[in-house]
Amino acid sequence: MNRFQDRKILITGATSGIGKATAERLAREGASLLLTGHSPDHIEATRQALPDAKVIANDAAKIEAIDDLVAAAKDFAPDGLDGVFLNAGYGSFRDLSEIDPGHIEKHFDIDLRAPILQAKALEPLVKDGGKMLLIGSGTVGGNRPDTLVYSAMKAGIRQAARSFASEYASRGICVNVVTPGLTDTGFHTRGGMGEEEQKQYKNKVAGMVPLGRIGEPEDVAGVACFLLSDDANYVTGAELRVDGGLTML
Ligand SMILES: NC(=O)c1ccc[n+]([C@@H]2O[C@H](COP(=O)([O-])OP(=O)(O)OC[C@H]3O[C@@H](n4cnc5c(N)ncnc54)[C@H](OP(=O)(O)O)[C@@H]3O)[C@@H](O)[C@H]2O)c1
Repeated sequence: MNRFQDRKILITGATSGIGKATAERLAREGASLLLTGHSPDHIEATRQALPDAKVIANDAAKIEAIDDLVAAAKDFAPDGLDGVFLNAGYGSFRDLSEIDPGHIEKHFDIDLRAPILQAKALEPLVKDGGKMLLIGSGTVGGNRPDTLVYSAMKAGIRQAARSFASEYASRGICVNVVTPGLTDTGFHTRGGMGEEEQKQYKNKVAGMVPLGRIGEPEDVAGVACFLLSDDANYVTGAELRVDGGLTML
């Protein structure tokens, strides 16, 4: 399949996990890619893995990095972007007693402020009929105390997508959310969860998922690519869950 031949797509947080799997799938389907990351070693590994992609460091936690992102996008796609996947994210699950302002600010900066300001700044660069994709979380709507801060930000993403979808509809730009359940990436290591704790957590969740396993990055990448493709030209303001059926229960 070459659904993305001659298509120019920007993905944030594409140097690991879901973003990287999406970049690899898009590259296989012919896309030209501008990818962002944060860790120098992950950026270098992604350059090796996807030699035709442009991979840049861009810290989503920093407001000034948005100007750099826009400049890089203009340079990469002077005639416009076909798609933008604002995927970079961070999550650290903590007991309520351990929530402090720094914990809230870090999640806010990366998980909510960045995608909102990036979507706003990048919209003029997206072609009419182009795609914008945000990423939510299956933790939203649950009642776990330890995901309070992370889930609050991801709930904001659902709202942001609806507002952007409405605003950009006159240009034919579709804005949607892909919402993974627990997916096997470096996300929980980054958030400070130890190896044994992750193993137990993943086993426990796998036992609750109707399809009997947790997600792989490629599971989410396939749906992200659908929402970035022409097959989703009449889908906007939607949220597509990729969680093996967990949240239908
Ligand atoms: N894994 C799950 O269970 C799960 C479930 C629901 C939703 N999600 C969401 O899925 C998205 C991708 O997560 P993942 O699971 O693929 O995790 P991941 O493997 O940790 O990947 C996160 C990506 O975001 C980048 N990133 C992190 N902080 C950044 C920052 N300050 N500036 C720029 N980039 C930054 C990372 O860059 P480097 O690697 O270069 O540092 C990496 O490319 C996130 O938005 C997450 O909230 C994940």
